[in-house]
Amino acid sequence: MILLVNGPNLNMLGEREPEVYGATTLHDIEKMVAEACAAYGRVVRPFQSNHEGAVIDFIQENRKDALGLIVNPGAFTHTSYALHDCLKSISFPVVEVHISNVHAREEWRRQDLIAPATRGQIVGLGPAGYYYAAIWLCTQATDPVMGEYDEDGGPVEVDPEDVRVDEAPPVVGGDYEG
Ligand code: DQA
Repeated sequence: MILLVNGPNLNMLGEREPEVYGATTLHDIEKMVAEACAAYGRVVRPFQSNHEGAVIDFIQENRKDALGLIVNPGAFTHTSYALHDCLKSISFPVVEVHISNVHAREEWRRQDLIAPATRGQIVGLGPAGYYYAAIWLCTQATDPVMGEYDEDGGPVEVDPEDVRVDEAPPVVGGDYEG
């Protein structure tokens, strides 16, 4: 299982500063990641919160089941030693994603307290960053896929129609044609 965690204000994607973040909604992103991971037989557990402690609680609570974490910490990126420590305490790889190029924006966005606790970052590539993070994590994971390999030892094929997205929000519009 792959965790997909989005921090504060990312529930507003599609509506929030579209000139910076585009028209894609968070649900579009969660669907895209679920489909990308399904091709590798992996289930995604998405979570979004505007509360620092809730983000940390979610990661801790799911740490035993997770093979990897995609995280866009939003503004916690620039402020949260607590999230840094949380990511340091888990054993699976973490990929940090930022939709915008934080290095080309305000000076304060260049401070990233999370990056040293992650395996890597994808910054400024728009929502596609989540997709690339998902593919990378799925190709790193070596444990049995959903409990079993196919007869060639490869990933079990999963029909994207059967993808389970835990706690998925209701479908809303967006520009991602999944
Ligand atoms: C962001 C960049 C952060 O600086 C900002 O606070 C966000 C979104 C991004 O995805 O580009 O909320 O993480």
